[in-house]
Amino acid sequence: MDAAAIAAAARLLEAGELVALPTETVYGLGADAENPEAVAKIYAAKGRPAGHPLIVHIAPDADLRRWAIEIPPEAEQLAKAFWPGPLTMILKRNPAIPDAVAGGQDTIGLRCPSHPIAIALLRAFKGGEGGIAAPSANRFGHVSPTTAQHVREEFGADHPLVQCVLEGGQSEVGLESTIVDLSRLKSRGPVLLRPGRLSTDDLASALGRPVSLPDAAAPRVSGSLESHYAPMTPLAMVPRAQLNEVLNQLTQARRRVAVMAIQQISHPLAAHRQMPMDALGYGHDLYAALRDLDHAGAELIVVEAPPASAEWDAVNDRLRRAAHDSRGVLTRMRRARRGVAQ
Ligand code: TXA
Ligand code: MG
Repeated sequence: MDAAAIAAAARLLEAGELVALPTETVYGLGADAENPEAVAKIYAAKGRPAGHPLIVHIAPDADLRRWAIEIPPEAEQLAKAFWPGPLTMILKRNPAIPDAVAGGQDTIGLRCPSHPIAIALLRAFKGGEGGIAAPSANRFGHVSPTTAQHVREEFGADHPLVQCVLEGGQSEVGLESTIVDLSRLKSRGPVLLRPGRLSTDDLASALGRPVSLPDAAAPRVSGSLESHYAPMTPLAMVPRAQLNEVLNQLTQARRRVAVMAIQQISHPLAAHRQMPMDALGYGHDLYAALRDLDHAGAELIVVEAPPASAEWDAVNDRLRRAAHDSRGVLTRMRRARRGVAQ
């Protein structure tokens, strides 16, 4: 680990600049959470709508009361069980914290990441007492970055706001943190806002009570927009049993297709990624695979739908949103032969 690079990045954050940092989930685009002008730079660089709240990353053993009022025992239990790690908790915000970081909501999202470089940066920044607001380091709606190179691809080498990208290898989890809402415990109990590596069962067993799925009154989460995490190329999900038939039709229609599949594929294709059979391995590889296939010059990315069981929830959640804007594309392509009059 490069201590000088971490110290320099901490000084940049203290000066109100942005720093892209590795975490165990995905790379984040960080700013001083207590500096509204610095936070505004995140929204500007990402092209993210202002109403979307950001997660504040804090050091291990940080004082939660600096950030939140009403720290319920549930928050202590989850922090003890899963921090540092891929869990974000939504709590009632301490009004002393500028609301820019919370998108104007009276809550705050807090997470203590486990990546050693993220922890070292949090300890070097403001004497370990600050918070780094960091959404995923990608342009709004795009695929999240799991390497420093992905971050550079998102923002370009000479982006005026994104100059410092800390190198931290490939993100270990590969999917964004699990988000649980603890801000409405009395009325709703704990509510899952975004699935991730930690499942509702993991949270429920640490809490000794069930965790429910989001309701209409749940706070907004940009990762819960119908369309998100999407490559530029249209993406269609195909059930496992239909994959070969669909690929035959697309090949006959002379479509340039890229495929992401768990089963073995023998078709001639623009590009092909064979994915791990286990949900953790698949989640680890997912975003890098989507980026690769996006660069293959294909007209369509066909994804073999993974299993529907609970351990695949986070993967299926991201794939469903990535496919959202491409609904109907596959049907049209299967019907229409390119360049041939109907
Ligand atoms: O794994 C992660 O969580 C990564 C890494 C960098 O830590 N960060 C991440 O940030 O995914 P982002 O901004 O892409 O997604 C954060 C989600 C957003 O969907 C946001 O709306 C939600 O967390 N969020 C943050 N604060 C919230 C709040 N006060 N209430 C409800 N949702 C909140
Ligand atoms: Mg994101």
